[in-house]
Amino acid sequence: MKAKEFNDFAHTGPGTLAGRFMRRFWQPVFIAAELKPGRPVRIQTLGEFFTLYRGESGAVFMLEDRCPHRQTALSLGWVEGDRLRCFYHGWMYEGDGQCVEQPCERASFAAKVKAAAYPAREYLGMIFAYLGEGEPPELPRFPELEDADGTLQCNRQVVPCNYFQRVENDLDEAHVHFVHRVSTASYGLSELPEIVVEEAEYGITRIGEREGGGSNATRTAHWLMPNALLTDLPPSPDCPDWTVFLAYRVPIDDESMMTFAINARRADPTGARQIIRKPIEPHPLQVTADVLAGKLRVQDLDPTYRGLFVVQDNVALAGQGLIVDRSRDRLGQSDRGVILLRKLWAREMKKLAEGEPLTVWRRPTEKLPLIVEQPQSQI
Ligand code: FES
Ligand SMILES: [Fe+2]
Repeated sequence: MKAKEFNDFAHTGPGTLAGRFMRRFWQPVFIAAELKPGRPVRIQTLGEFFTLYRGESGAVFMLEDRCPHRQTALSLGWVEGDRLRCFYHGWMYEGDGQCVEQPCERASFAAKVKAAAYPAREYLGMIFAYLGEGEPPELPRFPELEDADGTLQCNRQVVPCNYFQRVENDLDEAHVHFVHRVSTASYGLSELPEIVVEEAEYGITRIGEREGGGSNATRTAHWLMPNALLTDLPPSPDCPDWTVFLAYRVPIDDESMMTFAINARRADPTGARQIIRKPIEPHPLQVTADVLAGKLRVQDLDPTYRGLFVVQDNVALAGQGLIVDRSRDRLGQSDRGVILLRKLWAREMKKLAEGEPLTVWRRPTEKLPLIVEQPQSQI
């Protein structure tokens, strides 16, 4: 395999090198509260469709999307107990994919039929699944969110371009000063950072060094290989406080991706445990499409629009194209994070292609340092 091929991070469908790599890690696939018992859903991730359902016991199961009989979508079927019955001819499957009933067959051969099944777990309000071969690694844990003060909020947002563009943006603190200029100005962030990055046992520590203190203090974020960002988010139109923020950037297919994000928000002053979020109106994807079609300018958006941050990033990223030819990039010193990220990915993909053991990324059991841990008055 040529070195160039270790640099194709964009294509993650079944059998691709980057797809095999991503499947070695637990990935969020759905928001737990949105999966109702008895209501299976069809989801797409890493270019494949799956059926996800919650049994009557509350347990979550993930199966391949196609019924092994004549391949209709299993998500159309009925949940009975913790089993799933196909809508087309009523074959019944256990949560581990084993077929246990074939009502129209005189001599059942159910024991010989098995749908592919994938481990699924609930954690921090998300459903994570392991789509790789063999035994899954341990599910990563985040004490920063487990013990967070306030309320956890999960959301998902489609980004209309290849996921790796979103991934690279997470290593790019310089963009904040331009893409999110309206908001940075409002909380006094004006000093451009000196970008320092270090390989860490979990991935990359990204440091934006600044000298000014206060809003212009040095900021550290943690990139967890291969596709998660742990950082703190500054106040935005969607939330007035600094929040602990974990985001996974997961391909839907090669030309779109889903951000699965968990925020720890300050407790509601009314004491409500759960903050109910209204949908963002107008939808950020529609606003993104209108900007990219030249009907709106992102600079003219209402600075109080709740989808502002999402649209600003979407526009910058989808504005690069759906899948970018990276050989044309002209990288500078502010791209150190992107350079290190590509290096780590290429290194791991080469190991995978050559059958060598991959790096085992570990994070410390104690909390990683974040600004939000400091008293709010010092931020
Ligand atoms: S296609 Fe599922 S039972 Fe026939
Ligand atoms: Fe951004």
